Amino acid sequence: MPTVLTEAPPATLDRYEMASRDEITAMQTERLGWSLRHSHANVPAFRTKCESKGVHPDDFRELKDLALFPFTVKDDLRQNYPFGMFAVPMDEIVRVHASSGTTGRPTVVGYTKGDIDVWAECVARSIRAAGGKRGDLVHIAYGYGLFTGGLGAHYGAERLGCTVVPMSGGQTEKQVQLIMDFKPTIIMVTPSYMLNIAEEMVRQGIDPRRTSLRVGIFGAEPWTGAMRGEIERTFDIHAVDIYGLSEVMGPGVASECVETKDGPVVWEDHFYPEIIDPDSGEVLPDGSYGELVFTTLTKQGMPAIRYRTRDLTRLLPPTARGMRRMDKITGRSDDMLIIRGVNVFPTQVEELICQDPALAPHYELVVTREGHLDCLTVRVEMNQEVHPSDWDRHAKQLQHAIKARVGISTTVDPVERGGVARSIGKAKRVRDLRPKS
Ligand code: DLL
Repeated sequence: MPTVLTEAPPATLDRYEMASRDEITAMQTERLGWSLRHSHANVPAFRTKCESKGVHPDDFRELKDLALFPFTVKDDLRQNYPFGMFAVPMDEIVRVHASSGTTGRPTVVGYTKGDIDVWAECVARSIRAAGGKRGDLVHIAYGYGLFTGGLGAHYGAERLGCTVVPMSGGQTEKQVQLIMDFKPTIIMVTPSYMLNIAEEMVRQGIDPRRTSLRVGIFGAEPWTGAMRGEIERTFDIHAVDIYGLSEVMGPGVASECVETKDGPVVWEDHFYPEIIDPDSGEVLPDGSYGELVFTTLTKQGMPAIRYRTRDLTRLLPPTARGMRRMDKITGRSDDMLIIRGVNVFPTQVEELICQDPALAPHYELVVTREGHLDCLTVRVEMNQEVHPSDWDRHAKQLQHAIKARVGISTTVDPVERGGVARSIGKAKRVRDLRPKS
């Protein structure tokens, strides 16, 4: 592993990064009050929801009062498509992004100049937490365009004083060429696409461990600690986790510190996190697993009040910074499969795949229905060195591990390298072939 990284937090941190809990609470209380009043005054859909709940921003006095306010969900954005959730006149909106979604209307988000500024600051802070600094060359392979990944990372890297290579996603051969020729020290990309870059390097006879890269800042999709190990070994780099979502801002809502690698630090001066029980909506104490909910504290263009992310995780106490951390996302409630009554996330299977060196970290879960029963097939690629006569043995081992650890019976289908479709952005881990009811 490269040793050039700082062990202690850098000397210059943003104002609240190392603040005491009391200071953070006071700041959040003030900012939350503003954000609620701003939304209530300027977003009719939010005001209507508050009225039907019989709650008004004046009812907010301390942090726990936030629980009185209504949630915002993705459907609110769809129903107010395209710009109905914006809280400022259109001439103050300097940028929009949108998520494609798989069906129906995209969800649209808008930013003022001030929002873009805060976003850049949060991403700059995230890159700095990853060990980046002025002078680093940052290769950005998150997609540019309506997706927030590319431009979000871009503005943050520039803000920190880095040199940015705005490569975007795709053109894997070219990615490799630019990494070899420009010699970046940092790469920002989805973890699954990073593995595709490794494969392309090997195809070209390049050892991925011998590039100029020191750090990778990975996010936009769930990935496990085991996958972190896989990527760190493959590239001899530090791999850290960056989290975010368009509805709240984009990348950089939370990001991991390289010296601890113990879960993304939530940038609590701009985003207030809650964990709720996804069924009852009740707020759960820190440390409990549930659905992550965010309220923006400073966003002007499109504030988000109690936005339900559908991401499942828990909040953890501060370590390297004064702000709380989130644990790795286990999965989105949308990605949860229920196989014969047992809840399964792709990450649980990924964890087990990464434990067997004979298996490559390229996999997909295929769900089918036989009669009334749902069946799960795990298609996983075998590493080239493994002789085909050994494939079955490794497949059986994985099948047993899934049964023992996750509690479901599966069929494991070993396939050759390249047998699982590659993606250039977020990996699609589940193929659901069940008839639509
Ligand atoms: O994926 C923003 C982003 C870009 C984050 C680049 C990090 C890096 P959306 O397309 O709106 O925005 O998707 C947001 O992606 O609700 C999570 O389900 C998932 N996600 C994002 N980061 C992580 C992460 C961007 N580090 C959705 N770990 C979120 C797990 C993540 N899941």
